[in-house]
Parts: sequence; C-alpha cells; structure tokens
Amino acid sequence: MAQHNFDIPVTFRHRIRFTKDAFSPANAIVKDLFESGRSCRVVVYMESEISRLFPTLKDELTTYLEAIEEVTLTEILEMPGGEVCKISKTQIMDGISPIERNKIDRHSYVFCIGGGAFLDVVGLAAATAHRGVRLVRFPTTTLSQDDSGVGVKNGINGFGKKNFIGSFAVPYAVVNDFRFLYTQPEDVCRGGLVEAVKVALVKDGEFFEWMEEHTDALRALEPEVLEEAVERSAVLHAKHIALGGDPFETGSSRPLDYGHWSAHKLEQLTDFALSHAEAVSVGVALDTLYASKQGWLTAEECERVLAVLEGLLLPIWHESVDLRDDQGRRRVINGLEEFREHLGGRLTVLMLKSLGEGFDLHELDEDCLDECLEELKKRSAAALGV
Ligand SMILES: NC(=O)c1ccc[n+]([C@@H]2O[C@H](COP(=O)([O-])OP(=O)(O)OC[C@H]3O[C@@H](n4cnc5c(N)ncnc54)[C@H](O)[C@@H]3O)[C@@H](O)[C@H]2O)c1
Ligand SMILES: [Zn+2]
Repeated sequence: MAQHNFDIPVTFRHRIRFTKDAFSPANAIVKDLFESGRSCRVVVYMESEISRLFPTLKDELTTYLEAIEEVTLTEILEMPGGEVCKISKTQIMDGISPIERNKIDRHSYVFCIGGGAFLDVVGLAAATAHRGVRLVRFPTTTLSQDDSGVGVKNGINGFGKKNFIGSFAVPYAVVNDFRFLYTQPEDVCRGGLVEAVKVALVKDGEFFEWMEEHTDALRALEPEVLEEAVERSAVLHAKHIALGGDPFETGSSRPLDYGHWSAHKLEQLTDFALSHAEAVSVGVALDTLYASKQGWLTAEECERVLAVLEGLLLPIWHESVDLRDDQGRRRVINGLEEFREHLGGRLTVLMLKSLGEGFDLHELDEDCLDECLEELKKRSAAALGV
C-alpha cells in the first residue's frame, strides 16, 4: 500500500497599478501589461452604469488598444452590474460565452471594468473558461479599489448564500484608475473608506494615524487624500494576501475580515438594505469597543477609532442590531455561530491589541457584546440628538 505526497509549488505575480485616465494615449500602464512581441486578443466587459457615466470611454479604449501592435480588440460588451448581477442564474453562461465567441485563449485577455459585484461575476467566468484566462480588473468603486479588486477571489450568490459559487484566482493585473472614483454618490465614495480604516487598524498603525489627521479632508473627498488612502489600503490588502501565508484562506485566521462577523449578519438581516460599508462600520465599532472593555485597547484608543468612523459620517449603530430571536437574543450575535460555520470549525475572530495590530480570539463574551451594543446605541442616539 504505497502513499505518495507531492507538494506543488505555484507562484503567481499580482500586478497592481494606480493611475488616472488609464486609456489616455500617453499612459503606458496598460500597454506595458502586455507581453511584448506576442500577439493577443482582448475582450472587454464594461458595466452598463460605467458606460453610461463615461460615454467616451469605449472610444478611448478602442483608440488606445488599436494603437498597440500586438493587440486585437475583439469586442466591448456592456452588461448590468450591482449586487443583482451576482444572483442571476444565467450569469455564468452570459459571462463565459463572450470568451468562447471571441476566441480568448490562455494568452489573451479579459478586461473587466466595473464595481466589485461585476468584477466578481466576470472574474468567475474568466477563471473557469479554458480553466482560467487572463483577467485584468479595472475596479470602479472606492470599495473595489481599496479592497476587493486586489483580492484573489470571485463568486456569485447561489442557494441563497452569498458568494457560494466561486473560486480563488489571482487576476493577471488590477488597474486602479482614480478617474472612476468621482462619479460615485458621495456617501458611497466615502463609505468604501471603511475598508481602509479596517486594514489600517489591523496592519498599520501609522496609516491609521494618517487617516486620523486627514479625517476632514477624507470626509470632503479631497482627491489627493482620497487617492492616497485608496492606494495605501489596496497595497496593505495585497501585501497581506501575498505575504500573509494563506492567500487562498485554508486556515481560520482572517485579519482582513476584522469587524466582518457582525457586518455579514447585519447585511443579511436587513436584506442588504444596509450596505457592506455601513455594516462593516458598525462591526468595526463593535469589535473595537469590545477590545477596550476587555482591556486590550485603552478607552482612549477606542475613542479615536469611533471618532474616525464618525468623522467619515459612517454609522456605528443600526436599528437591525435590536432585532431579537425567539429566545430574546440579539440576532446579530447569532452571526458569531455562522462565522464559525463559514470558517469550517473553530471560531476565530480578530481582535485588536493596539491600533495597528491584531490577534486571534476564539471565544467572545455575549454579555459584554450586548453591553457594547447598548453603549453604541446610546452614543449614536446622542450624536443624532435623539
Ligand atoms: N472577490 C472579493 O474578494 C470580494 C471582497 C469583498 C467584496 N466583494 C464583493 O464586492 C461587491 C461589492 O462591490 P462594490 O462595493 O464595488 O459594489 P457594486 O459593485 O455592487 O456597485 C455598487 C453600485 O455602484 C455602481 N457603480 C460602479 N462604479 C461606479 C462609479 N464609478 N460611479 C457611480 N456608480 C458606480 C454600480 O452600478 C452599483 O449600482 C459585493 O458583491 C461583495 O461580495 C468581493
Ligand atoms: Zn469588507
């Protein structure tokens, strides 16, 4: 009875670029992504909303790609995005068939321009057609530029579960074009910065201090600071994925999911009326206050975090936190059990031991969580003058 175990090492290059007006003729960022001397085809998926907001984009893109000798642009498709695009059962084939129709092989490219949901759908198509073709993401929301766009996952919702059907796949490249940030509604643009606050808290205390110093400018969406925040956040996320030792999430430790156990539950409880950004803000406030009540953070450190969230006009409370189950337990707290199931075994929640550093915790005190939620409720009501 022989047994053979082989370790299969595979290295991926994660190419992340930051720019403005990626398709202006003088900008070489996209051009330089192509292998020189090798002819290739490109199919472009553009979210309909982006096409509407940037009516000249298709022409700019066509002119840009046609000027590159090795590249043949085969088609620019328009498809709807937003969370609904992750629910439709026809999405997989709608995503894959243009790859077949345009004869995109493993040395050709799928360009995808849109928000995080659209990137997820097209990413799944690109990861499965031909068992994976090259995907170049152009994220267009703050949240997708500062967080999910540099991630190595894709997925659609299925069987009533978010991201149930999907895969881990490192994109060929991610081009964060800051041009796209400015057509978002202001609250959405600002809201995406919650992932920058989150990653600063778990990875980089200096970045958190920088966000504290620049809270007013960030709230006002001043371009220079907004773009710096997006870039620093994206790099911290990518660095963790590349160097953190668990890019495909086989273990239970998920530092980038700080504040997310309750956020996921709140999104679900509100049927996604509460946006991911708002839900994460409440989740970060809760776990930060919990860390201070348990003595890992000082009350002053906790206050600084809440002040940044409030300074960015992000919520620290939502009425859905008061929803209770038959036993009178806050339903959001049931999110802990669901998070444990999602991890597939042991509950692991990241807690802060300082502003910029976290540690894994395996048990939370429900009474203390309740106390924190009551306190956040009072603070939020006081701020609103209720
Ligand atoms: N793959 C991952 O690692 C990962 C990680 C985190 C989140 N996600 C997913 O990302 C999705 C959320 O992404 P999102 O926050 O970008 O939201 P989104 O993609 O749903 O976009 C939100 C809205 O903004 C519009 N929009 C997009 N770009 C715009 C622009 N430049 N100006 C104006 N409007 C614009 C969209 O049409 C949509 O209506 C969720 O489905 C989430 O599951 C994926
Ligand atoms: Zn998130």
